[in-house]
Amino acid sequence: MIVDLEANTTYRCRCWPERVARRRARQLSREIPARFQNVGFEREPIPSIARTAPDAVRAVRRYCDRVDEMLAQGEGMWFLGSPGTGKSHLAYLISQHALAAGRSVAIYTGPRLLDEIRRTYGEEDSNSTLDLIDRLTSVELLHIEDLAVARPTEWVLEQLYNIINGRYENERSIVFTCDLTGDGTGEEEREDASPPRPDRLARHITQRNFSRLVEMCGDPHILMGSDNRRAQYRAHAWES
Ligand SMILES: Nc1ncnc2c1ncn2[C@@H]1O[C@H](COP(=O)(O)OP(=O)(O)OP(=O)(O)O)[C@@H](O)[C@H]1O
Ligand SMILES: [Mg+2]
Repeated sequence: MIVDLEANTTYRCRCWPERVARRRARQLSREIPARFQNVGFEREPIPSIARTAPDAVRAVRRYCDRVDEMLAQGEGMWFLGSPGTGKSHLAYLISQHALAAGRSVAIYTGPRLLDEIRRTYGEEDSNSTLDLIDRLTSVELLHIEDLAVARPTEWVLEQLYNIINGRYENERSIVFTCDLTGDGTGEEEREDASPPRPDRLARHITQRNFSRLVEMCGDPHILMGSDNRRAQYRAHAWES
């Protein structure tokens, strides 16, 4: 609060909304998993990803270099492609830079996010869903891993809409990853799986959620190729 002695009044500082958002975000999940804690542009696998997807890495670097500005503008980013191609590493680079810049960040996998919402359903405190949605709406960066989850219930989709639309209206950034190769019948396991169709995400999360995400996050950064996790174990003698 700022005290104006001359006018004998107090008013909220410009930083008030950000402070409130940060305080409220403390109760959200914001841990970077151990595997991604030390991601860096100079550390593997980012230089390798830069060889296969140079545009995506360049865009992430641009975003990280201007993270304050990007978050202030509500700019997001999304990564789409086959498994083991580095989508999560690129997304965590952004979260890591946002946290290092002192911004509030919430990190969830798609299924866990929906689970958290579902858990509040039927709780005695009828405000708990509203409260969670409110926190997820106001945090400065929402990072969702693997958003292409199986189609959830209508109620959960509605809550997802409340989050996405709330962030859309308040110009809050979202970064997410998504694996949409194959047809959901195990085809995604194949290395020659068909290229991803971004609009198929709409089938999972509804057209209105998809439409807002695309406006906030732009075109997806596509990462295709063979699964680097499998490439690692293929290097073992027993696999050759
Ligand atoms: N271009 C690459 N070159 C070498 N290794 C890579 C490359 N991309 C990813 N990896 C390695 O592959 C593994 C998976 O990376 P990551 O989790 O970022 O992939 P992903 O695209 O998010 O996969 P998924 O869709 O299954 O979540 C990690 O061990 C990472 O080091
Ligand atoms: Mg991933």
